[in-house]
Amino acid sequence: MRFSALVSGLVALVSCHVTSAAAEIVKRASLTQVSNFGANTSGVKMYIYVPNSLATKPAIVVAVHYCTGTASAYYSGTPYAQLAEQYGFIVIYPESPYSGGCWDVSSPASLTHNGGGNSNSIANMVTYTISQYNADASRVFVTGTSSGAMMTNVLAATYPNMFKAASAYSGVPAGCFYTGTVNGWNSTCSNGQSIHTQAEWANTALNMYPGYTGARPKMLILHGSADTTLYPQNWNETMKQWSGVFGYTYGSPQKTLAQTPSSAYTRYVYGPYLEGIYGAGIGHSVPVMGAVDMEWFGITGGGAGGGTTSTTTTSAGTTLVTSSTKTSTSAATTTTAAVPGGCTAARWGQCGGIGFTGCTTCASPYTCQFSNNWYSQCL
Ligand SMILES: *[C@@H]1O[C@H](CO)[C@@H](O)[C@H](O)[C@H]1NC(C)=O
Ligand SMILES: *[C@@H]1O[C@H](CO)[C@@H](O)[C@H](O)[C@H]1NC(C)=O
Ligand SMILES: *[C@@H]1O[C@H](CO)[C@@H](O)[C@H](O)[C@H]1NC(C)=O
Repeated sequence: MRFSALVSGLVALVSCHVTSAAAEIVKRASLTQVSNFGANTSGVKMYIYVPNSLATKPAIVVAVHYCTGTASAYYSGTPYAQLAEQYGFIVIYPESPYSGGCWDVSSPASLTHNGGGNSNSIANMVTYTISQYNADASRVFVTGTSSGAMMTNVLAATYPNMFKAASAYSGVPAGCFYTGTVNGWNSTCSNGQSIHTQAEWANTALNMYPGYTGARPKMLILHGSADTTLYPQNWNETMKQWSGVFGYTYGSPQKTLAQTPSSAYTRYVYGPYLEGIYGAGIGHSVPVMGAVDMEWFGITGGGAGGGTTSTTTTSAGTTLVTSSTKTSTSAATTTTAAVPGGCTAARWGQCGGIGFTGCTTCASPYTCQFSNNWYSQCL
């Protein structure tokens, strides 16, 4: 029913210096829950981070957590809040209402524009934030990891009118997890066995908002070749889906950039609306690349195609600035701190990875299984 992903640890986040104006709904520079953002029939929780350095007409980044994750875990495990301080945008961290912490990317409601599912609740958070903060409706972005990447693809398909750009870390195509039930798990898809034609995948996405003919978000799809939670075929299928939507020829990128944005990865540039980043030997999940996202979203300059430098923020809290054409980055030193006194992590729980400081032993009969340098899980 659930799997999950990377991240943990990471850097002490910017906090302090509260400068809240009377009209503001939340304290600045602090992850805060918002309880009245609009219709919320699927019960998703909304958390928001408004930086001290809020821009006059701020952009919005929606950052969607992985299974077993929370808004708080994604806030502290990814660089978006620090980047918000740097660039003045607002971050929305939605939180799954389900016990496993996965997103509903399987029901007709969530896979339909204004269908009343999780995707609808998240869209309502965006609408609310735009009006509350006079945010820039033309600069709303979405990103997510694992189940959050699935939701990122679903949001791009159900609310193409709302998002300008998206980045999906280790997800599946929009609609691939369909089961007809809420919060279902489609193992055919997770195992990489849901294989369709480009036209079929494109239509699956297009049918989530029938009749819509306007602009669509540009898509950046990241995946690792050694992913055994959401098999790597899902990268190929997702590239098929969006290349179909945008009219690119699947399998014929305009540019293929080796060792970009860092040594393990190859970046495939289909055109302005679609790029893929595929990591050789990288498992589930690809670590969040804050600088790559900022560039893809147009928050920083340079444009697509793996610019000159990129910053990879690892969950260990180190920031690795690497030239796109040079090597480095490999974070092979997995250290898992033992918890004094000992404790056990539950099934599906994280039990290791760079920067992880929680329980490293799994509750019987589960064992701690290595997924990637950043993530081991009790399975
Ligand atoms: C959405 O549902 C969650 C969970 O029931 C609740 O905490 C939150 O207050 C709701 N928000 C709105 C706007 O209804
Ligand atoms: C998963 O999706 C495939 C279609 O790609 C479908 O045939 C299958 O029935 C789905 N699995 C479940 C459990 O619904
Ligand atoms: C999926 O894409 C990767 C990266 O281009 C490639 O190595 C792999 O062969 C592709 N898989 C299939 C089944 O086409």
